[in-house]
Amino acid sequence: MQAVRVHDGGELRYETVPDPVPGPGEVLVELHRAGLNRRDLLVTTGVYPFPLPLIPGSDGAGVRRDTGEEVVILPGLRWGDREDAFAPEFEVLGGPTDGTYAELIAIAEENLYPRPAGWSWEESAAFPLAALTAYRSLFPRGGLLPGETVLVLGAGSGVSTLAVQLATQAGARVLVTSSSDEKITRSLELGAEAGVNYATTEDWPAAVRELGPVDLVLDSVGATWQQSLDCVRPGGRVVVFGATRGTEVELRVRPLYFGQLSLLGTMMGSPRDFDGLLRMVADAVWRPVVDSVHPLADAAAALRRLEGDHFGKLLLACD
Ligand SMILES: NC(=O)c1ccc[n+]([C@@H]2O[C@H](COP(=O)([O-])OP(=O)(O)OC[C@H]3O[C@@H](n4cnc5c(N)ncnc54)[C@H](OP(=O)(O)O)[C@@H]3O)[C@@H](O)[C@H]2O)c1
Repeated sequence: MQAVRVHDGGELRYETVPDPVPGPGEVLVELHRAGLNRRDLLVTTGVYPFPLPLIPGSDGAGVRRDTGEEVVILPGLRWGDREDAFAPEFEVLGGPTDGTYAELIAIAEENLYPRPAGWSWEESAAFPLAALTAYRSLFPRGGLLPGETVLVLGAGSGVSTLAVQLATQAGARVLVTSSSDEKITRSLELGAEAGVNYATTEDWPAAVRELGPVDLVLDSVGATWQQSLDCVRPGGRVVVFGATRGTEVELRVRPLYFGQLSLLGTMMGSPRDFDGLLRMVADAVWRPVVDSVHPLADAAAALRRLEGDHFGKLLLACD
């Protein structure tokens, strides 16, 4: 089959590799589309130092070779029995296990779900990892209720666009921040009520507070924890799931406990979370925002776009 593999030094090669052989409990899926995630950059640049060569990619949609069913892949492998955290055996598809930047994948049958009715192949491959992360952040971890206000940082990110759509579907009021006025405008089209440009507004948490009490913040930026805590109302929650702009922070401790605030971490989601997400998807009037679709052979260029300016999800055509 044709696949894209990461080699030493982060070199990406589109090459012919042996077809994967399904192990016990696994089946072959002929991939139509693979979705890109920021994690792929961490894998391809060696921040996550997995053995190489490796086929990256966590998201994919395609056809089961044995049954002909059209499926999407749950990208979390071996979550385990607990809902509050995953088991030590847990792993995200696409490192160290070969992922979806390929024509074929051998994957556990339990990780396959029917793809959403009426969605395109692009939309089907765009949502699993990012929407699952957004779903668990908003609901099981963030406890978002209808009528509450959630602030989503970095409106342009793949996870953020889906978080805006899911929170809107759940009847929440949604605010966003972004470095771009254009992305804020596009977020309003997805259901957000208002946004603040964090790049041009000196005290953006103050601007957010002026928009009204915020119950919950989704923070994937990392460097912004203090500002996120500054945005929420007393008793509010901040859910963190990324570190796009930094892995270390300094916090003022007193406002955290004076304010009775909750700072919560989350990571992707359990199979139960995925079931909950798929129930919302079945009722959704929205579709994932597709930024662009690239040939599998052009994965390197697609990753460069992911690293830079984009809005929504990037896809690879694997077929
Ligand atoms: N824990 C998990 O399970 C999990 C799962 C998926 C993703 N993640 C993490 O979530 C983050 C987003 O992932 P993704 O794939 O959706 O990323 P992405 O599409 O590459 O988007 C990154 C976005 O971050 C925003 N950003 C950068 N600096 C910012 C700042 N100082 N303040 C606010 N926003 C800022 C930018 O938004 P604007 O362009 O709008 O400014 C940018 O578009 C990454 O850190 C990723 O590692 C975690």
